[in-house]
Amino acid sequence: TVERPLKGRHILVTAGPTHEPIDPVRYIANRSSGKQGFAIAAAAVKAGARVTLVAGPVHLPTPAGADRIDVESAREMLTAVEKALPADAAIMVAAVADWRTADASGQKLKKDGSGKPAPLTLIENPDILATLGKHGQRPSLLIGFAAETEKVAEHAQAKLARKGADWIVANDVSGDVMGGDSNSVHIVTAQGVESWEHLPKDDVATRIIEKVAN
Ligand code: C5P
Repeated sequence: TVERPLKGRHILVTAGPTHEPIDPVRYIANRSSGKQGFAIAAAAVKAGARVTLVAGPVHLPTPAGADRIDVESAREMLTAVEKALPADAAIMVAAVADWRTADASGQKLKKDGSGKPAPLTLIENPDILATLGKHGQRPSLLIGFAAETEKVAEHAQAKLARKGADWIVANDVSGDVMGGDSNSVHIVTAQGVESWEHLPKDDVATRIIEKVAN
């Protein structure tokens, strides 16, 4: 129907950061409030979809009607995402940490008095979006996000191919987007670039879901 264009569809959304433990009290993370991803999940519910929201650690209420799965690390997020398949569309908004420590300490790391901090060895996390891009159950519409501070559309074009996504929603985060309530986005597809005016995150969410439904 016109009001519920995504009725009968399953939409998978990731949101928030991931936390990669260093020891029981410290972690590595990207900055992300989760607001844009949660707004997209809410808009998808409103459009009639069944929505699975895989959320990293954030302080946000669950959008009414969404099935929320809370995770901490990138590896947990990947497991939850794969478990949620099949999906008609996946919208990967999470700011996944690129690296984790090779061996998180079970005990709190202590200063040893030498003045030399404990060395950290970082290894790369799985790329969840790229994993879905070549997955046997790849959603027919696969959307990634990209936070950029310069050459936004150009970097997004490269990311589209590298990750096997259908669209990259490129965020210009050079302003006050982080944690804020509005966003400047460019929708990058094989067809080209659509730049939207600066909009509240709720309106960006509604427009993305309209485009998904189309
Ligand atoms: O490479 P970059 O982190 O800029 O790409 C951002 C996009 O890739 C987002 O959609 C993000 O959710 C996804 N991503 C991912 N797994 C990673 C890193 C990024 O799914 N390890």
